Amino acid sequence: ASLPESKLSAQKEGFRFFMEKEIYEQSEVLSDTLIGRLAEDAILFDELNPSLLEGINEIKLCACGTSYHAALASSYLFERLGKIRTSVEIASELRYKEPLLCTDTLFVVISQSGETADTLETLKMAKAAGLKTLVVCNVDNSSMVREADAAILTRAGIEKGVASTKAFATQMAVLWMFSLYVAQTKDTIDAETLRKQIGLLREVPAVVRVHDDLHERIRRLSKRYLHGHGFFFIGRDIFFPLALEGALKLKEISYLHAEGYPSGEMKHGPIALADPELFTIALMPKNLLYDKTKSNVEELSARDATICAISDVPFEKADDFIPIAAHDHYMLEFFETMVVLQLLSMEIAIRLGNDVDMPRNLAKSVTVE
Ligand code: AGP
Repeated sequence: ASLPESKLSAQKEGFRFFMEKEIYEQSEVLSDTLIGRLAEDAILFDELNPSLLEGINEIKLCACGTSYHAALASSYLFERLGKIRTSVEIASELRYKEPLLCTDTLFVVISQSGETADTLETLKMAKAAGLKTLVVCNVDNSSMVREADAAILTRAGIEKGVASTKAFATQMAVLWMFSLYVAQTKDTIDAETLRKQIGLLREVPAVVRVHDDLHERIRRLSKRYLHGHGFFFIGRDIFFPLALEGALKLKEISYLHAEGYPSGEMKHGPIALADPELFTIALMPKNLLYDKTKSNVEELSARDATICAISDVPFEKADDFIPIAAHDHYMLEFFETMVVLQLLSMEIAIRLGNDVDMPRNLAKSVTVE
């Protein structure tokens, strides 16, 4: 039975919605995610048997929804940092495409609930094909944790908002650490690079802390994005999956149409939609392909699309500009941009009067096909 409103509001600890509370608690839960896993010069996963990676030459990541976006984003890290061939699958597609699963592949499923039907079925498929399996999950005694050979818990705490926020953030932190763990285990990363990456991971809890002035800026500008004929969220490299995630957050809780797109793809058709009613949320980190992204955004701006730029570099052609702090690495820009996207979708949905925590038609865990 649902709790009386008074009890629920007490649980929200003064926030308007659980989603808002969970965005604000990302800083503390990410600290929990990192506890015990970062030594000065090594990644520690005590819960993993070192033999897990023996004979492994490929990683296949598989998930649904927001967890799929974490899988896709981390695949850039597994190849760039982990130096291991990596592929990514949408669970509901993998189930029926008669895949060639090889036993030198570590099958990694990512799931907040550990109960998503499609993802669970792919885990069983991989096991049946003789692959070693790992689950990155937020629920210790879930079906996937029981089914997989190994599990890494994200330690996000209970996530009440249907639109996932802190679960995604902690999945990204775990997958980033695991990409380094793979490189460390296979001796494909030098000590200096590993130490620098560990230093960056330690900065993440501070980077995702929400600052009142940023939140207020986002709340104010959100009033301009309530009625358009659609949104593009665009980014390059690891910011493309983040753009997908930003678009999903907006769709889920505002019910406005939004699409994530690689910014380099706009000229291959989508730019035909450019006009003032087309809102483009442009992810423009200075540390990752900034000039290329900038020229893509300028092409849209020249065709009168309305641009909201999220960047640590002022972009004068934007109609709205949301500044993030000047970080010296794209992964810190990634986490701060993630918070901006979460707050932007939430503030738009609140202005539209929607139930941010319980969006229409959605369930927190999709345990049926
Ligand atoms: C996230 O905002 C959505 N509610 C949904 O896409 C979710 O990520 C997806 O259903 C997968 O759930 P899981 O992580 O529990 O497997």
